[in-house]
Amino acid sequence: MRIFLDTANIDEIRQAVRLGVISGVTTNPSLVAKEKHTNYKSAIQEICRLVPGPVSVEVMGQEAKAMVSEARELSTWHPQVVVKIPASPQGLEAISIISKEGIKANFTLCFSLNQAILGSLAGATYVSPFVGRLDDAGHDGMELVAEIVAAYQRYRIATQVIAASIRHPQHCLEAARVGAPIATVPYKVLLQMIGHPLTDAGIARFIQDWRQAQEK
Ligand code: G3P
Repeated sequence: MRIFLDTANIDEIRQAVRLGVISGVTTNPSLVAKEKHTNYKSAIQEICRLVPGPVSVEVMGQEAKAMVSEARELSTWHPQVVVKIPASPQGLEAISIISKEGIKANFTLCFSLNQAILGSLAGATYVSPFVGRLDDAGHDGMELVAEIVAAYQRYRIATQVIAASIRHPQHCLEAARVGAPIATVPYKVLLQMIGHPLTDAGIARFIQDWRQAQEK
């Protein structure tokens, strides 16, 4: 299983990369807007330099034609850029064009197995089911991840599932249990994944016992 960082914050990315466990980054327009980068293109290029893997960057166009031209432009920014395109008819049309040009797409805002199947048929490299937002709407978001993973395995579909809209460490556990090949997580959740009170207590106890032994 691989872990991506779901953020456009360069400091968070730098810190997470130092841990040696991050193999990609996903951004979206809301995450980018929060950071107020003075130069968006340079910020994405810096993220690509920091991260050893794909960096998803979303198109803002609504029509297939606009999505395609944005995707072509974004893909020139850095070889690691993966273009994020929403799960709409226009998105499918755009992915079917750019995938033939070798541009990698992340089919995003995916909320159903039908969307995930169509995204893979259009040629998406990744599909991103939004777990937390489905949970917010009273559904079981991880159930969708499990369904997509099972369908892709059954039909030997190469599109990779990114469990997205991850809100807490329990989501990461469940994503691992249902066989999601990738989970994209906020920095806070990444730290929660490694944190455990028994580890902290164990370290404190070892230090205390060691010091006491030195004093004897
Ligand atoms: O990866 C998708 C993510 O950025 C959306 O998360 O918490 O806004 O649903 P959230």
